Amino acid sequence: MTATATARAHTNIALVKYWGKADTDLIIPQTGSLSLTLDQFYTDTTVTFDEGLTADDVIVNGERLSAQRATKVHNFLNLVRQQSSRASFARVTSVNHVPTAAGLASSASAFAALAGAASQAAGLTLDRTALSRLARRGSGSATRSIFGGFVEWHAGHDDLSSYGVPLVEKVEWPIAVVALVLDPHHKKISSRQGMQSSVNTSPFYPAWQQIVADDLAAIKPAILAQDFTTVGETLESNAMRMHALTLSAWPPYSYFNGDTLAAMQTVKELRAAGVECYYTLDAGPNLKIFCQNSDIAAITKRFSQQFGGDNVIVAHPGPGIQFLDEA
Ligand code: PMV
Repeated sequence: MTATATARAHTNIALVKYWGKADTDLIIPQTGSLSLTLDQFYTDTTVTFDEGLTADDVIVNGERLSAQRATKVHNFLNLVRQQSSRASFARVTSVNHVPTAAGLASSASAFAALAGAASQAAGLTLDRTALSRLARRGSGSATRSIFGGFVEWHAGHDDLSSYGVPLVEKVEWPIAVVALVLDPHHKKISSRQGMQSSVNTSPFYPAWQQIVADDLAAIKPAILAQDFTTVGETLESNAMRMHALTLSAWPPYSYFNGDTLAAMQTVKELRAAGVECYYTLDAGPNLKIFCQNSDIAAITKRFSQQFGGDNVIVAHPGPGIQFLDEA
């Protein structure tokens, strides 16, 4: 039983969004969701359980977190300690591999990597379903980052039944996601706060539950058939309908900024000019554009003119969790 382990997990972009919890403690979602794991953005995390420590010690990108900022990591490690025979505190060293100040750092890759490294360092041998369930307890979207490619999160109804399942793990479809960095700063309204406000106050929330069921039913066969247009139309409409929940909440709010709206307009212009591409975005202003590899050059050229080349990042389908120091 080793006391140290290192894991790498990639972030994912939801094509059918998770937006709302049914159980806020266990992080059971209101609906299913579906994502694509991306190769460009990932987190490497090393966990060492050490009897000499008097508290969990968490270092992210070279910076030691205060006890307050490390609360979520500490709570997560408590779960791992409960499930294993390890009682000692741990040192957690985590590095986010995202382009500098990209604002694309994601709790999905962070908690998936932490779940992998902490469980292995604690001597637990979890299969990927169990790992997905564990990652879910840190951040909902992390449940999908255990797997590569297209991944569905089965909402389930309790801790045992809520986990990610790969739909197509090795993606042999020449598609890409072009990420635009429109604002590198931290989001003001966390996804945690935002989604609960939508569940509790948006009169459209019941419609959203039906939309997700319909979109999952449409997008899964379209992915399997590599039907680019159906996948694109479904993900763009799903994203806009999720964001309609923020505008219809009380008090209302939005993750869009002016550049977000300008970039959406450019996507429409590209489409009108015959470059088929579709956008989505999460709890922040940065647009992600789903496209075919043959159109990457035209899309990056247009957005580099608009926002600068450093703010345009091309990603492809990425792999599931990897253990970097398998003993
Ligand atoms: O995992 P969380 O709690 O950060 O929530 C993620 C929410 C969205 O990114 C907006 C949608 C999703 O399915 O990833």
